[in-house]
Amino acid sequence: MAQENHGFFSHQTLEKNIGWMIVCSILVVLFAGLVQIVPLFFQHSTTKPAAGVEPYDALRLMGRDLYIREGCVGCHSQQIRMLRAEVQRYGPYSLASESVYERPFLWGSKRTGPDLTRVGERYSDEWHRIHLRNPRVVVPESNMPGYPWLAQQPLKPDDISDRMRTLRVLGVPYTEAQIAAAPDALKGKTEEDAMVAYLQGLGTGARKAALAAQAATKSAQGVK
Ligand code: HEC
Repeated sequence: MAQENHGFFSHQTLEKNIGWMIVCSILVVLFAGLVQIVPLFFQHSTTKPAAGVEPYDALRLMGRDLYIREGCVGCHSQQIRMLRAEVQRYGPYSLASESVYERPFLWGSKRTGPDLTRVGERYSDEWHRIHLRNPRVVVPESNMPGYPWLAQQPLKPDDISDRMRTLRVLGVPYTEAQIAAAPDALKGKTEEDAMVAYLQGLGTGARKAALAAQAATKSAQGVK
């Protein structure tokens, strides 16, 4: 077959030159990535908090930082996927708008233990305390480690204001008054108090808002 002449801007230039092929493939993937990612920074569904989702108060924020320190995310996810089994077990699937104040987010991917997105108010504070000190007291077959030292260590209120200010730079709307009141809110509390407060708050804001919205629609429709 006769060799056809082709110009530089032809498909054959790409197909016969692996260097160009790689460069152009990378450009296509980069562009496609940007098209998918950039709009997320501007969409309300990913940038505005869901109804009922509030920034963490000082005690819960400390609890969250302890959750990170202790590596709980290595065994627990905080993202309920759109799978029937997960929704039936844990509640409504997670929305991006529930994570707008999560910096860094703790969605996790390892699911040795149950998902904790909506664990708040499912157990009593006392249950959590016993469970954190030694999980096997309440769940005999549990392989979760105990965290008994949390109950002994007092919280250090020195840097909570800095933590909140840093989050404010990242877009969490803390007021000066909230930041000023934060160290007092931690006085006399232990790390365990903070952890329990954090766990008990998980998913509760969104749940209350959803229930209130349901009740409002029902009463608007005149259903009792
Ligand atoms: C080695 C893996 C592992 C680590 C690390 C771990 N957990 Fe667990 N966790 C589990 C397992 C397994 C269960 C289920 C059995 C049980 O309830 O103890 C569980 C259960 C729980 C539950 C009850 C959830 C429910 O819906 O019943 C909570 C709350 C919890 N863990 C919190 C924590 C916290 C907080 C930390 C970090 C301080 C942590 N876990 C670290 C494995 C782990």
